Amino acid sequence: MFSRRKLLQTSLFYSLLPQNILQAKVTEKFHNPFQVPPLATAERKGRDLYFNLRVQSGKSAILPNVLTPTLGINLPFLGETIRANRGDRVHIKVKNSLNETTTLHWHGMKLPAKMDGGPHQPILPDAEWTSEFDIIQNAATLWYHSHQMHQTGKQVYHGLAGMFIIDDDESQNLDLPNDYGVDDFPVIIQDRDFNQDGSFRYVTSMHDLMMGKAGNTALVNGVNKPVLKTTKALIRLRVLNGSNARIYNLAFHDFRHFHIIASDGGLLEKPFRTKSFTLAPAERVEILVDLSDGEMPILTHITPSNSGSEEGMMGQMMDRLMGVEEAVNRFDIFQIDASEVTSSKVNIPDNLVTFEPLPDAVVHKRVFKLEMDMMSAMMKGSPQGQLTINGSSMDINHINETIQAGSTEIWVLENHSMMAHPFHIHDVQFRIIKRESEKFGEQNISAQEAGYKDIVLVNPNERVEVLMTFPEFRDSETPYMYHCHILEHEDAGMMGQFVTV
Ligand code: C2O
Ligand code: CU
Ligand code: CU
Repeated sequence: MFSRRKLLQTSLFYSLLPQNILQAKVTEKFHNPFQVPPLATAERKGRDLYFNLRVQSGKSAILPNVLTPTLGINLPFLGETIRANRGDRVHIKVKNSLNETTTLHWHGMKLPAKMDGGPHQPILPDAEWTSEFDIIQNAATLWYHSHQMHQTGKQVYHGLAGMFIIDDDESQNLDLPNDYGVDDFPVIIQDRDFNQDGSFRYVTSMHDLMMGKAGNTALVNGVNKPVLKTTKALIRLRVLNGSNARIYNLAFHDFRHFHIIASDGGLLEKPFRTKSFTLAPAERVEILVDLSDGEMPILTHITPSNSGSEEGMMGQMMDRLMGVEEAVNRFDIFQIDASEVTSSKVNIPDNLVTFEPLPDAVVHKRVFKLEMDMMSAMMKGSPQGQLTINGSSMDINHINETIQAGSTEIWVLENHSMMAHPFHIHDVQFRIIKRESEKFGEQNISAQEAGYKDIVLVNPNERVEVLMTFPEFRDSETPYMYHCHILEHEDAGMMGQFVTV
């Protein structure tokens, strides 16, 4: 039997949606030009690639008639896109021109712990930090963002995030759109709330802290209601959920099919044809969208029409789905205008890459229990320390796990709380090998989740097993992080540290 909650998590949910629900409410017009973050310029000397980044504050025209104070990297808001090839050695000099301490973390990257840009590599105001590492992994859409202790949520919310694209020969030789800003686009989705004066409204309540900060205005690459005009019949979207906490259920309003070609860590073995996908905070997918019909599809997040308790709202939604009036709300993200597409030639490769066989010599299995003590948090008036992994919350002076570099491990992620947590591990790309819960038993791993990942959504009462080989970097002093990527949870301590030795 499918429960309502379970149903919402599956694509069956979408197949039950009558098409006219999605088409029903074409809300406000999309009128702002789609912005493509510029590529960060780099100086190349052989395989060495030198970048200069400046973390800065600025003012951005996001809403009409007001300016929003924002943060960015080489830009007033958000960051330039960093692009490098497998085999390159990057040297990224980061200058902090804010009057607060920050860090820049390369999310999804395999690299020495000292170069990771986590809480152990703070960059003080006016200081500089250089991160240098070899790109040893395959083509993928990664990203970078602030990881400052207790400030990650706030700094990312204000704009300290950007995309980091890795290319390799294998992906370049495939017949995929790869002309940046022409047929290959970053799509950084974020939700924000604003004050009257145009400033961002960050956490204002206990609810924001416990559930994570969600906003009622969708931005793509920092722009509200953008429309992407293209003349290309096939485009590639590198979709990043750069939101602090919101989990998106994304589909096009006309319910068209598209192909998912990549997950967090790179290309899938084959394109996967679908109409929708779920994207938790920090997750990425790359999709190919066929626009040869010349239409104007809107990417939309489908939300239950009523808030309240989770079962309650899903209950209402399901009741309505079973026949009564409009069941869901649309939270529209952006529109594509393909009215000037002339060609109808669209080629989707049958095969992309071949994965390495799963390593079988597992030396260690570790269990991570995710818990939230709502009662204590309420009584204390703060969730600090009440969001835990294996009973403890982040202590920067304590290393939680010691791992043998080069070894293969299974991490068992158990969610003992009432809400879903997107669990992220630094320095690795893992494979999901099992997803199960008492209620529903073992579930199939979806095609979207079958590839390399650095983040996985663990639903309430679920148990997810991930398998990975830790790269050969040894440093007994500098740890990497693992944590919930709802940034308010991370800041409240739902994070731990490991070293590889
Ligand atoms: Cu997106 Cu600890 O990082
Ligand atoms: Cu990370
Ligand atoms: Cu969480």
